[in-house]
Amino acid sequence: MGKTIIAPSVLSADFADLGGAVGQIDASGADWVHLDVMDGQFVPNITFGPKLVMDLRRRSQAFFDAHLMVETPERIIGAFANAGADSITFHLEATVHPHLLLQEIRGLGKKAGISIVPSTPAGLLGELLPFLDLILVMTVNPGFGGQHLIPECLDKLHFLAEERQKQGFNYLLSVDGGINSETAASAIAAGADVLVVGSAFFGAPDKKKFVDNLRLQ
Ligand code: DX5
Ligand code: ZN
Repeated sequence: MGKTIIAPSVLSADFADLGGAVGQIDASGADWVHLDVMDGQFVPNITFGPKLVMDLRRRSQAFFDAHLMVETPERIIGAFANAGADSITFHLEATVHPHLLLQEIRGLGKKAGISIVPSTPAGLLGELLPFLDLILVMTVNPGFGGQHLIPECLDKLHFLAEERQKQGFNYLLSVDGGINSETAASAIAAGADVLVVGSAFFGAPDKKKFVDNLRLQ
């Protein structure tokens, strides 16, 4: 599906300077800004809401990839759309009406994404595939940056890439959790189009070099 999209996550940045973090992402030549929204319910951690996204929107023209790790995402999708997110991804496990939500997101003029945690089989997405712009396969249990990639989760990318080809769908496959210079190649080989990178990006001394190197994997 073309060149690999690199999406640094601000989760691993200094939260006292998130504007600066978005500036670093832009300067690195990375493609997207990944925004990890956590509510302390769906996951044990709490990050930020739509106000922060709106404020960051004024600092960057980059594609804003919002990853909502929240219960009942239907309550806040409109707010993130208004705040300037370009894609909105929620968790299959967090709502009983994923189909309705995907349509709502597209209706708001945004790319519609769905994510699955490591224990959720990719086959559960079957009925939703025609309505998706992005599938975010989690390769760690969501909540925290800096964890190790669970290699078994990569099989889901193989399956979803195959379904896309067989059925003629267009969704992007994103992989999130434990991606670094060592693991990126296996994620790309499994079919990932988008690499979300948190701790490895913010830990890299030369971020441009790091991003260029990931694209070469
Ligand atoms: C985890 C988040 C990830 C996280 C990735 O719940 O969804 O986006 O920031 O961080 P690393 O790359 O450190 O695993
Ligand atoms: Zn994420």
